Amino acid sequence: MKRLFINPTRFFLGILLIFTYLSFPLSLLAANEKQGEQLVNEVCSTCHKFKGEPESKFNLQAPDLMWGGDKYQRPWLIRFLIGKEPNLYPNGYRWDIVRQAEPHVVLSDEKAQAVADYFNQNLRDSRIKKNAIDLSQFSEKEAELGAEIFESFSCIGCHRIKDDGKLVGGPISADLFDSGNRYNLDWLYRFALNPQDFTPHSGEYLADLSGLGARYIVGYLMTLGVDNYPYYEPWKSNYFKNTDPKRGEPVYKEYCTQCHGANGDGDGPGAEGLEPKPAAHSKMALSDYPEDDLFNLLYYGGKNMEKAATMPDWGLTIPPQQLADLIAFLRSKFKVDLL
Ligand code: HEC
Ligand code: HEC
Ligand code: HEC
Repeated sequence: MKRLFINPTRFFLGILLIFTYLSFPLSLLAANEKQGEQLVNEVCSTCHKFKGEPESKFNLQAPDLMWGGDKYQRPWLIRFLIGKEPNLYPNGYRWDIVRQAEPHVVLSDEKAQAVADYFNQNLRDSRIKKNAIDLSQFSEKEAELGAEIFESFSCIGCHRIKDDGKLVGGPISADLFDSGNRYNLDWLYRFALNPQDFTPHSGEYLADLSGLGARYIVGYLMTLGVDNYPYYEPWKSNYFKNTDPKRGEPVYKEYCTQCHGANGDGDGPGAEGLEPKPAAHSKMALSDYPEDDLFNLLYYGGKNMEKAATMPDWGLTIPPQQLADLIAFLRSKFKVDLL
């Protein structure tokens, strides 16, 4: 009997809640989604595919959109649909048929929102895993390495980016100069693992990228077009707030003295066959070495800092706290006032 007792305030609040739900957002969303669905079925489907297997672009009129709910950042999608974005394919999507980009269908803002809702609810691709890659600690140096991959793996041969504000690269496939504002990271990462899962036999290219290479290139693409990208600065991390040079000393002994010598004179047993010679730390003011350069030299090695490749990259070998301690040791041991 007790359970039948109804608190009048709660009852009133409950009714109010149900009323607000029913009267406003749900019905609006439903109406929106319906409008979105109708547009997709009646307009967009005349050119785009929303179901079935990915196909060669040479059998298509427009890019496949089965994963449309996963691929785009919503603000970009809206801007594209209301005609506020340039074409993605400079020579036209089917450069084998036409040789120029044609204007895309333009929707009103309301219809674009409805389509974006429809994409979001219906066009999800189960192959795309959430948070498969974490860029919360993506550094500017990593972006630089990604930029090098973009050139050395010929990406720039087929995709355009901007260099000092100027478009550079081959206009074969989608422009990537604004990719950081366009793609959802999870989609891009999955695409990079195997482009042929999305665009088979379209003239696409498979790069031999290791786990780290994929991180660099995907992270780099996520910075393009983004103002003030919030790069991670390892030398400002907590590891560097708790350093102890004493803990760094044995690390130096284990990894550095082999080349740089027991006292940092550049005369370790490994120095003999090396040209240029390992630096004589004892003659350097490592206390004054810029913090970003010192970290990057140790983490990414000489080859990535315009020094000899015989100075190894230690990023995978020395754990973060040890690296921070080692740097503290270098700075306290090799000081300018000792010179
Ligand atoms: C007449 C054919 C046609 C119709 C109709 C059409 N599109 Fe497109 N769409 C294209 C072409 C061609 C491209 C590539 C254009 C470019 O260079 O940007 C494209 C590109 C896109 C893209 C970006 C694709 C990518 O590569 O990531 C989206 C999203 C899109 N269309 C959505 C829509 C939606 C939503 C509708 C319906 C409201 C629609 N399109 C109607 C031809 C069409
Ligand atoms: C030989 C030309 C070529 C090279 C080289 C190339 N791509 Fe592509 N890329 C393509 C083609 C073709 C597609 C499929 C889309 C299309 O129909 O154009 C594609 C698709 C993409 C897409 C998805 C575009 C979209 O929005 O749907 C990304 C991102 C991409 N490539 C990045 C890269 C990166 C990074 C590299 C270098 C590792 C690279 N590409 C090298 C031709 C190339
Ligand atoms: C396999 C040999 C080798 C080992 C091991 C090695 N280095 Fe080096 N290191 C070099 C060489 C060679 C250079 C000179 C590079 C040049 O001048 O282009 C160098 C240069 C340097 C420099 C000077 C960079 C500059 O601006 O001139 C620093 C600092 C340095 N190493 C730190 C370390 C630390 C710390 C370790 C241990 C974690 C270490 N190195 C381990 C070979 C080595």
